[in-house]
Amino acid sequence: MTKKLIHLIAAARPNFMKIAPLYHALSKEDWCEARIIHTGQHYDANMSDDIFKDLMLPSPHIHLSVGTGSHAEQVGNVMIAYEKITQTERPDLLVIVGDVNSTAACAMVAAKEHIKVAHLEAGLRSGDRRMPEEINRLVTDAICDYLWTPSSDADEHLRKEGHPENRIIRVGNIMLDSYEMIRDKINAEKSPAKFGLTEGNYGIVTMHRPSNVDEKPILEMLMSQIIEVSQRLPLLFAVHPRTKNALQKFDLWGKANNTQNLTLVEPISYRPFMSLVKTAKLIITDSGGIQEEATYLNIPCLTLRENTERPITITEGTNKLIKPESLLKDVDSVLSGQWASSRKPELWDGKTAERIVTEIKKILLN
Ligand code: UD1
Repeated sequence: MTKKLIHLIAAARPNFMKIAPLYHALSKEDWCEARIIHTGQHYDANMSDDIFKDLMLPSPHIHLSVGTGSHAEQVGNVMIAYEKITQTERPDLLVIVGDVNSTAACAMVAAKEHIKVAHLEAGLRSGDRRMPEEINRLVTDAICDYLWTPSSDADEHLRKEGHPENRIIRVGNIMLDSYEMIRDKINAEKSPAKFGLTEGNYGIVTMHRPSNVDEKPILEMLMSQIIEVSQRLPLLFAVHPRTKNALQKFDLWGKANNTQNLTLVEPISYRPFMSLVKTAKLIITDSGGIQEEATYLNIPCLTLRENTERPITITEGTNKLIKPESLLKDVDSVLSGQWASSRKPELWDGKTAERIVTEIKKILLN
């Protein structure tokens, strides 16, 4: 029997923890071959290769090396490069994850080539079309054949948009499968001590959204709040390349880097990062995935955004959307014990990859 060919698209940091559990689950099946296509949207070791190693992924089978660029350049370059791949090895199914530029680009190639395509993490909506990711989500879900969702709110969004019921399949939150898959290795990391931090007595900061970091007045105000917070609670700030560039360009790097109790470090790979998250006092972030990980691990999460595509992290989890100017006040509330602890949302159970394999069998073996 010829094996069914499945392409898994990996592009940017938040994608890797979504494809890893599925890649490992599919590798156990004898009827299919799963191949990882890395578009190269993220290319630094600490944004890509290190995370592949942490998740025990092989090197990508194909690397498109598109790199950075404007949105149009990135989407266009990924489309051109991935279309060529489909001409030489046409998959029976393409799986795309998340909401980055490469997600939408590969979905468009597959749809036009009449290749079956499934979106893992479908149905998330912030309602904010100023976010590039929201455009990617809308475009992607509009053209995919199978919409695999993480939660009931995602199902509802898709229904409201008129997607047929038989395309909407709730599979759960795959990212947490990655956590469960290497939980012991994460526990063995002991990262807080490596950064000179005491378990339970530090905060983690991550920030990379254009709306927070691309304009000087906003970033300057955020940094002054973060510096003040660090005088109450030691902070470790894992600085994304976009943010580092902005801090340097706006002349804000020196002061932050010289503030006691505020440690600026390069992006941190998955295992050490999760080791830091699980014993943090709180998290300050504008990331999407970290809102979910904080909910899963019951760690207070202050999200520097006006909206979230993951509202279940607020209604059932530890997440709170906050305004940049109120950061200090919100941190004080958490430090005085005022925060909502989480109930784990349904199907955030580390078994999402298994459910997806069952779905893929229905698609490819029937
Ligand atoms: C992208 C995603 C975003 C996701 C984020 C996680 C889109 C529209 N955005 O944003 O949804 O939350 O990834 O990080 O797809 N850079 C490096 N090294 C790298 C990668 C990027 O130096 O390995 C630099 C680039 O040169 C660029 C900047 O970081 O200057 C932004 O990279 P880009 O991939 O365009 O977008 P992100 O902000 O990372």
